[in-house]
Amino acid sequence: MTILVTGATGNVGGHVLRQLLGRGVPVRALTRNPAAAKLPDGVEVVAGDLAAPETLEAAFDGVSAAYLITFDGSDGAALSTGPQVAKLAIDAGVRHVTMLWSGRPGPFEADIAASGLSWTTLQPVEFMSNTLLWAESIRAEGVVRDPFAGLRSAMVHEADIAAVAVETLLGTGHEGREYVLSGPEVLTVPDKIEQLGAAIGRELRFIELTEEQARARLRDMGASPEAVDHVIGWYADPPVEGYTVVDTVERVTGRPARTFAHWAAENADAFR
Ligand SMILES: NC(=O)c1ccc[n+]([C@@H]2O[C@H](COP(=O)([O-])OP(=O)(O)OC[C@H]3O[C@@H](n4cnc5c(N)ncnc54)[C@H](OP(=O)(O)O)[C@@H]3O)[C@@H](O)[C@H]2O)c1
Repeated sequence: MTILVTGATGNVGGHVLRQLLGRGVPVRALTRNPAAAKLPDGVEVVAGDLAAPETLEAAFDGVSAAYLITFDGSDGAALSTGPQVAKLAIDAGVRHVTMLWSGRPGPFEADIAASGLSWTTLQPVEFMSNTLLWAESIRAEGVVRDPFAGLRSAMVHEADIAAVAVETLLGTGHEGREYVLSGPEVLTVPDKIEQLGAAIGRELRFIELTEEQARARLRDMGASPEAVDHVIGWYADPPVEGYTVVDTVERVTGRPARTFAHWAAENADAFR
């Protein structure tokens, strides 16, 4: 019962991969560039691109379930290959797919759902790892620059997103479910900074950016105009789910969602 993990070289997929391995499940990792992928021993690595379905036949061969990202990393856009990917999965006898949304419902999830495959969609709010964006200025100057100081976020640990994914891939009762995933508390930007400072034993300063400065930073990072609008729109006027704690992680995994203090302690070295 091999499980296909896409996004395996990334945040959430990396946790999915390691958690499945930890449970002794055979895992096949998909990457567009196997030579650059640094994946743990015991993982079968296969080359393929979700935006190019003709590259994916070997990836699905003999797979019982799959964790699927729904965006194309080459331009950040939503994948439009849902019908072809669904056909490959159905032809290979895949039992279930679990999909990570891109922050809003996309055509990929809709096409998979319409295909007759059994599916679950994970709809996490803000990832805790987004604070890694602050790592360089914290290391260099002890400073965080960010817009929207008052933003409240029920940010979620990527390992918890993955833990829910793993339960949906290995268990039953998750078919046709859209799981909104949050962490265990609502934090403001100053709350996050305080907790990071505590984790590294350093007092940190906050400098609030204007919206235009925040847009420019995203553009400099290579974000498309659409992605800039989406991210800034979310931060300026987050949907209620973005700052609402839900108990999905605990309901699905049987364990409470990890706190940001936990995340900060685990990742402290990145900020030192
Ligand atoms: N950050 C947030 O707060 C947040 C909140 C909600 C949703 N999201 C969504 O979560 C997603 C990011 O997840 P993540 O952080 O786990 O990923 P990530 O760390 O950004 O890594 C991207 C992964 O996707 C793979 N990938 C990209 N395009 C691909 C393609 N065309 N075919 C096959 N693999 C491809 C990459 O694999 P290779 O490079 O090895 O091929 C890599 O493993 C985004 O869609 C984002 O919008 C983010």
